[in-house]
Amino acid sequence: MHPRDRFLYIVVPLGVVAVLTTMLVVGRTAEPARYAVGYAPEQPIPFSHRVHAGANRVPCQYCHTNADRSRSATIPAVQTCMNCHRYISMADSDVIQKAVVARLQIDAPLKWERVYHLPDHVFFDHRSHVNAGVQCATCHGDVKRMDVLTRVMDLRMGTCLACHRGPSRYLPPESPIKKGPTDCTACHR
Ligand code: HEC
Ligand code: HEC
Ligand code: HEC
Ligand code: HEC
Ligand code: HEC
Repeated sequence: MHPRDRFLYIVVPLGVVAVLTTMLVVGRTAEPARYAVGYAPEQPIPFSHRVHAGANRVPCQYCHTNADRSRSATIPAVQTCMNCHRYISMADSDVIQKAVVARLQIDAPLKWERVYHLPDHVFFDHRSHVNAGVQCATCHGDVKRMDVLTRVMDLRMGTCLACHRGPSRYLPPESPIKKGPTDCTACHR
């Protein structure tokens, strides 16, 4: 084979394959940790869903008040914590004393790290899902048992679409809804 042909037919294709493989592998492994199942960032103070939503049965929407009426479920403000912690484990808890009370006094919000966060080009609305009867646990897992809130569902496009194509088993039996939207503009506006 002429050296130039060898270059064209062997070296170039091999090079292309190597570059593409590298891009694919690096892309997969270097993707942000916040998209991964098991992601549990360190929070400004330890807050246990097991203690609150589990053992003490505080309803999810006592704290995440907007889950059925807006896009965001919302993270509660320190004032919401103080509805109870004005009375509960104030004197004997260092964590509450130092963190919550101090923050309240200087009126600064606690900076919770987000666990579930979609890229800006994706539109999601809690309201339509919660009101259709999809349980929090379907997307967020068994939060009532979590001392540390940990990501259980990867919110990739395929995960959204898999449910939208056949949501029945995640909906109440009497639900008239047969499908969620699969057209691009529903989620990319
Ligand atoms: C269909 C799946 C789904 C269901 C059902 C669902 N969520 Fe979410 N949740 C998400 C997604 C997706 C995000 C990330 C949204 C974003 O980044 O825009 C999220 C984010 C959140 C957040 C953080 C940010 C925010 O929206 O304020 C909280 C808190 C939350 N969910 C609580 C709840 C609670 C409580 C329920 C049940 C009442 C619930 N979710 C039901 C998918 C769901
Ligand atoms: C509806 C009432 C209620 C609300 C609202 C509430 N808590 Fe609690 N919290 C409790 C109860 C009950 C306990 C368990 C107390 C015990 O076992 O002694 C607790 C325990 C705690 C503890 C462990 C206390 C310790 O001794 O170290 C922390 C930390 C805490 N809560 C933080 C918060 C934060 C932060 C918020 C707001 C985001 C909040 N709580 C909102 C009722 C509440
Ligand atoms: C006493 C208040 C309180 C109750 C009750 C509560 N949460 Fe939370 N939730 C919080 C706080 C504070 C955070 C932020 C700290 C963290 O991530 O642990 C949070 C975070 C979350 C997140 C992660 C949001 C994100 O993207 O960062 C989800 C999902 C969530 N809660 C779901 C639930 C579900 C489901 C229930 C009911 C089973 C529930 N919560 C009950 C206070 C509460
Ligand atoms: C477990 C099932 C389930 C999952 C997971 C789910 N959805 Fe949905 N979604 C539904 C159902 C059911 C509807 C239809 C609600 C109706 O018709 O009232 C819907 C409707 C929607 C709508 C149209 C209503 C509106 O608010 O505009 C959008 C947009 C949407 N989903 C986005 C998403 C995105 C983005 C994700 C992934 C991050 C996702 N969904 C994950 C079940 C799901
Ligand atoms: C049910 C909601 C939903 C629908 C419908 C949807 N997407 Fe997406 N799309 C998403 C989510 C969620 C992501 C973010 C994925 C991630 O971060 O990994 C995404 C990401 C993307 C991306 C960025 C590349 C990537 O993988 O992150 C492109 C491009 C895209 N979508 C195109 C489309 C096109 C074209 C359609 C119509 C055929 C469509 N989407 C329909 C939810 C949706």
